[in-house]
Amino acid sequence: NLDYASYLKGWIRTVPNWPHDGVMFRDITPLLQNPKTFRVLIDIFVHRYMNEKIDMVAGLDARGFIIGSVLAYELNVGFIPIRKKGKLPFTTVEEEYELEYGNAVVEMHTDACKPGDRVVLVDDLIATGGTMMAGYKLLQRLGAEVVEAAAIIELPELGGGKLMRDAKVPLFTVCSFN
Ligand code: PRP
Ligand code: HPA
Repeated sequence: NLDYASYLKGWIRTVPNWPHDGVMFRDITPLLQNPKTFRVLIDIFVHRYMNEKIDMVAGLDARGFIIGSVLAYELNVGFIPIRKKGKLPFTTVEEEYELEYGNAVVEMHTDACKPGDRVVLVDDLIATGGTMMAGYKLLQRLGAEVVEAAAIIELPELGGGKLMRDAKVPLFTVCSFN
C-alpha cells in the first residue's frame, strides 16, 4: 500500500498559485486520466472496504463524486451526493463550515440514509478538514455510522487530519503533501 501511495503521488500534479497566489494546488486529473492509476486508486479503496459490510458511500461535491460513485458501484452499494447548498431538490439537512474567506454550506437529502447505515465518506483532499467534517456531521445527524472518512490526499500543514483525528473521526488518506 505504501508503494502504491508513492506511485499514485507521482501522478498528482502541483499547480503553483492556483486558485490564488501562494497556494500549491494538488490536481488529481492526471491520476484520473490514466486508466492504470485510476484503477490502482479505486482498488485501494475497494480492498479497504470490501469486507466491512458497508451500506452506502457518500461523496463530497465535486471531486468526491468521481471516486465515491465508482467505489459505491464496485462495493455494490448506493451512492449519496453531499452537495454545495442550493443544488439538491428534495428536503435537506445542512451544515455550515469555514472557508479561507467566509463560510460555505453543504447539504444532503433527509432520506439519503437510514439510522444505523454503515457509510464510507469520500473526498479527494483534506486541507483544513472543514468540508469533510461538515459531511461527517450531516451523516451523523441522520444516524448513520461513518465507518471511515477517506481521501486521496492530506495536507498536514493545514491541520484537517489532526482536527478529525482529535474529534475521533476514523480517517484514511492514501498520501500527503507538505
Ligand atoms: C476542495 C477539495 C475538498 C475541500 C478541502 O474542494 O476538493 O472538497 O476543498 O478543503 P478543506 O479540507 O479545507 O475543507 P472545493 O471546496 O475547492 O470545491 P470544488 O470541489 O467544488 O472545487
Ligand atoms: N487541491 C484540491 N483542493 C484543495 C486544495 C488542493 O491543493 N487545497 C484546498 N483544497
